[in-house]
Amino acid sequence: MPKRKRIGILTSGGDCGGLNAVIRAVVRRARDYDMEVYGIKDATAGLMARPVEAELLDVKRVSGILRYGGTILGTVNKGNPFAYPMPDGSLVDRSAEVITGYHRLGLDALIGVGGDGSLAILRQLALQGDWNFVGIPKTIDNDVCATEYSVGFNTALSVAVEALDQLTYTAISHSRVMVMEVMGRDAGHIAISAGIAGGAHVILIPEIPYKLENVCKRIRDRKERGNNFSIVVVAEAVRTESGEPVTYTNSLGQSLYGGIGHYIGNEIALRTGIETRVMVLGHLQRGGTPSPLDRLLGAAFGVAAVDLIAQGKYDRMVAWQNRRVVDVPLAEAISQYRRVEVDGALIATAIGLNTYVGEVDPQLLRSISP
Ligand code: F6P
Repeated sequence: MPKRKRIGILTSGGDCGGLNAVIRAVVRRARDYDMEVYGIKDATAGLMARPVEAELLDVKRVSGILRYGGTILGTVNKGNPFAYPMPDGSLVDRSAEVITGYHRLGLDALIGVGGDGSLAILRQLALQGDWNFVGIPKTIDNDVCATEYSVGFNTALSVAVEALDQLTYTAISHSRVMVMEVMGRDAGHIAISAGIAGGAHVILIPEIPYKLENVCKRIRDRKERGNNFSIVVVAEAVRTESGEPVTYTNSLGQSLYGGIGHYIGNEIALRTGIETRVMVLGHLQRGGTPSPLDRLLGAAFGVAAVDLIAQGKYDRMVAWQNRRVVDVPLAEAISQYRRVEVDGALIATAIGLNTYVGEVDPQLLRSISP
């Protein structure tokens, strides 16, 4: 009797809504091809562990998990095996251990669910270790190239919009400016989409420089027209007006974003005299019940990834393009970082709504006027 094909799946990088929908879809689709699926624990850390930490997943084990946030497999976002952080603070190349872990598990192929950083690392491991690898894009930041949507973005967006709705009531009640800082790493996808959907009056993203004077002008203008409140959304990677990054180093020596919301809020209060409060939405964006769209995307990507393995198509990433699931060369998907298109529909929409989104080049404005 021929040996059953054995595939692995791991989730890597920051967690997000929809990961369990991916895992469930992979297991269900694999059954159609009579493949075994091993769920690897904590991303590549599971392949580094001895014995390798992985569990055989069957349809019963994944039943109903698409409703849960996070990932049943666990994940890590600071364990690059090529520069693995050791307890003594040194960085050690442990890639060979991870590569061996794949072979010890007897895998015929591996599905890696990750953002651009994780997918790049996994591809390097696959090339060095002779793995058959397929990638699935996931990240609340939606910054993976070659796909319009990554798993997790829609859930984060829903959380951010719900938060903005709630902040608006308290802003109105107290006649305040409310500033909300959202995640997104070096891109402003969450900020621009949530800002538009949540009715923000100012949206600041890292892709567009801004002037504090014009942020405050928008808020003063609203007050003069009788609007007693304003809502400001700021992406975490926005810099100070003079271009300084706003990050902090925690007690473990990790450099993290955080603080730009307070900088903007303080400047608004100082310059307008209007009472201003700041909220950093933080990791709530990664948790919560996965949105229906993320469950759909996760399911579609999971099925498509197993289909690729069945066809023997590797070194590919599944992607969402023009209402279809397609597959693209993984090298292409990780070759660039996807930022908000400054001449795209969302910026045009925000400007059309009289939202201040920063200092957009007037030439560009003419070409994108909605
Ligand atoms: O990439 C996802 C993300 O949530 C970013 O938006 C954010 O900058 C980062 O991860 C936070 O990482 P951590 O979970 O390590 O705080």
